[in-house]
Parts: sequence; C-alpha cells; structure tokens
Amino acid sequence: MADRYCVFGNPIGHSKSPAIHALFAQQTGEDIVYEARLAPTDSFAASVREFVVAGGRGANVTVPFKEEAFRLCDAHSDRATLAGAVNTLSFVDGRILGDNTDGAGLVRDLVFNLKTPLSARRILLLGAGGAARGATGTMLEREPAALVIANRTAAKAEDLALHFADLGPVSGCGFADLIGESFDVVVNATSASLGGEVPPLPEGVFSPDAMAYDMMYGKGDTAFLAHARQLGVDRLADGLGMLVEQAAEAFFVWRGVRPDTAPVLDALRRA
Ligand code: ATR
Repeated sequence: MADRYCVFGNPIGHSKSPAIHALFAQQTGEDIVYEARLAPTDSFAASVREFVVAGGRGANVTVPFKEEAFRLCDAHSDRATLAGAVNTLSFVDGRILGDNTDGAGLVRDLVFNLKTPLSARRILLLGAGGAARGATGTMLEREPAALVIANRTAAKAEDLALHFADLGPVSGCGFADLIGESFDVVVNATSASLGGEVPPLPEGVFSPDAMAYDMMYGKGDTAFLAHARQLGVDRLADGLGMLVEQAAEAFFVWRGVRPDTAPVLDALRRA
C-alpha cells in the first residue's frame, strides 16, 4: 500500500500541494499518496492524531497552524526551532518530528532558479510575521552584507532582528526608516498583497538591477510586483517557485529523494 501524506490547513480547498507531490511521486517513482485535509481551527492536534492513527507517515502544515504544529512536536530540527514554526511533520515510531522547509524553499528559488545570489548582497525583508520569521535564519546563512527587516509595526521588526542577531548582520525598522537606503533583493513577506495593498516604500529602495520577490502568488503580478514594475524594476518573481521548492525539501525530508522541481514549476505555471 502507498505511504500516506497530507497537508493540513484552514482553508485548504485551493492548495496546490497535492498536485505538486503527485508530480514528485510520478517523477521519482516513490509510492505515496498525498491529500489535502481541512483541520477545524480549534482541533488541529486531534486532526493530526487522527491521521497518524489512519497510517499517515508525514504531513505539511499551512496557515493558520504552523505555530501550533511547532508546539505539538516531540522534537524539532534546528531550522524549525529558529523559525518557531513547523511546516513539515514526520511521524516516526510514535513520535512527531517537526521541520521547517519554508526558508530553504525561498533561498533555493532565489539562488538556484532565479540566479539571485544573496551572499554579500543587501537584502530587504518586508514584514515581521510568521512568513518573515521562517525566512530570516536561512537567508542569514547565505552571509548577506546586510539583512534589513522593515515592518508596519517597527517594534516587531526590531524584535525579530534581535532574535536572529547571533546569525549575522540583521536589523529591524519601520518603512519610513528606509529613506536613503537601497537593496539588491527585496522580499515581500507581508500579507499586504492579499488585500491588494503595497507596503509604503520610500523611492530608491530598489537598487538598479534589483530583484523584487513576493512570497505571495496569484494570476498575474501581485500588488507588490505591479508596484515594483511601475518603479522600473524588471527582475520580478512571485512565490510559486518557493511553494514548489519548500514542497521538494519536505519530500526530501520524508523520502530521502530530491525531485527535479523545474518541470513541476513549469506545469503549475501552464495550468
Ligand atoms: P504571515 O504568517 O503570513 O507572516 P502574520 O504573522 O499575520 O502572517 O504577519 C503579517 C505581516 O504582514 C505582518 O508583518 C504585518 O504587519 P504588522 O506586523 O504591522 O501587522 C504585515 N501586513 C499585513 N497587512 C499589511 C499592509 N496592508 N501593509 C503593510 N504590512 C502589512
């Protein structure tokens, strides 16, 4: 019988993860099935236990359960501990192991797919919520010249920077503090694009040849990417690559096999 995996979220109906993992399984010959499971917001833990009893081997976790998943785990990878959130669960010998592949997915998409090195570059990370937190440690591992976290609520960005201060040159501030600064890579980890909004960035934040990256994705440009394009930025990417890469990293955690992501990303872009 095929090994069972799933993604838990709420809502979960539009998740692309089942399609992505089905393509990975087909490509690698791994015998798995992967489904989307809606967990009620007040009973995530019970939903996970039910899946374990039904023979589940592992699961992804998405909004709004990543922090709760962290608390549910018996053990954590270093990167999950740093992020304080878990997106990948493995069920092994009655224990729940937690990992976080979001940061690795982002960095892999930027560095390998988009040929955008982070090392010795100036990086601006917009937002200081869960998505930003998941990316900070992994980006600092690439040894940027500077990682500035800017957030609507400046104090949250400062706290986040403090949390990662041992790992590299990271600082936190509000958007207005960015006046006069420019960056090689600007990553939007706010949820502003969801409401069609753009963080208020001072002019000149994008250096010539900068990459504008939105962790969100959708049909056409997100609000952030449309804004960057208007400012003359022509290196733009949405978060679909990150989605596929974090899935590939989770697949590797579970199966020990690394799928080729390029054809899967192509298939999703065409769909
Ligand atoms: P996620 O897990 O997606 O990161 P979150 O933890 O709720 O979600 O964080 C949302 C982030 O988007 C926060 O940084 C939030 O800013 P605040 O901390 O000031 O609330 C940011 N955000 C949401 N809407 C925004 C908007 N319209 N403009 C700028 N930032 C916004």
